[in-house]
Amino acid sequence: MSRLSHKTRIQQKTWHSPDIFSFSVRVPLTRLMPGQFFQVRLGASLDPFLNRPISAAQYERGILRLVVRIVGRGTRLLSEKEPGEEVTLLGPFGHGIVPARKRSLIIAGGIGVAPLLFVAQHLKKKNAPFAFLYGARHARDLVLTKEIRKMSDACAFVAEKGMKKPRTVLQELKAWFAPEYECAYACGPRAMLVALQRMELPVPVYAFCEDFLGCGCGLCLGCAIRYRGVYKRICEDGPVFDLSGIEFNG
Ligand SMILES: Cc1cc2nc3c(=O)[nH]c(=O)nc-3n(C[C@H](O)[C@H](O)[C@H](O)COP(=O)(O)OP(=O)(O)OC[C@H]3O[C@@H](n4cnc5c(N)ncnc54)[C@H](O)[C@@H]3O)c2cc1C
Ligand code: FES
Repeated sequence: MSRLSHKTRIQQKTWHSPDIFSFSVRVPLTRLMPGQFFQVRLGASLDPFLNRPISAAQYERGILRLVVRIVGRGTRLLSEKEPGEEVTLLGPFGHGIVPARKRSLIIAGGIGVAPLLFVAQHLKKKNAPFAFLYGARHARDLVLTKEIRKMSDACAFVAEKGMKKPRTVLQELKAWFAPEYECAYACGPRAMLVALQRMELPVPVYAFCEDFLGCGCGLCLGCAIRYRGVYKRICEDGPVFDLSGIEFNG
């Protein structure tokens, strides 16, 4: 698929929490898969220098939705853009994944919920049953829960703070995992993926790796991870990998 520069305008913007927002833009593409992402250009100047990678969270009839958590200068600048303002997206990048029509578990940690929302939409379209487990540090960081509840056959929202029964998404997963599940999709902080790998679920787990990127287009090797004995670039070869093959200490 060609990687284009899409100069487009923000159509809709919604705040989901004090630091998480989503916006939609028109981007004409023939196909876009969960896991694929765009490099968002933050301004006409070179400051900040690097574009910021943001995953596709939804794509329907040419309208792309991105869900963003403000963590630093780049995402703050993006959050200041309002409907009608111009934004440039480069991409799509990465391989993404075609979710199979299998009974699936979706495991989201923090803003990892964004690309998994897109997985859920694909599974829903295929009538594949799935459960959506979603955890955040604080209950106020759990976003898009109504949408998730509507789409999923079953779901659970947990937080380490701000809930009567504080727990992590992996603690919740232990109570949920059952032999009828055939595969799982996971996205969240690296520590969550490492702990999930240690759980050795008896099904393929597709991990969406959203670690730091440099160039974002395969040139700098700044995003290399070891996978089944060789180095792979998250931006070009991923960002979706079979979790069992990732060598986190490699
Ligand atoms: C393939 C991919 C897809 C992504 N999709 C999304 C998405 O859909 N929504 C979203 O909100 N974010 C997503 N991210 C993360 C997002 O790109 C970063 O949060 C963003 O680039 C930070 O830019 P900044 O200028 O705001 O923060 P910076 O000033 O660059 O950093 C601020 C703080 O955040 C930390 N940080 C920065 N980037 C990351 C990262 N990738 N992982 C963990 N900590 C980080 C830094 O260490 C620092 O402490 C994705 C990242 C990748 C690689
Ligand atoms: S970020 Fe430069 S090669 Fe992946």
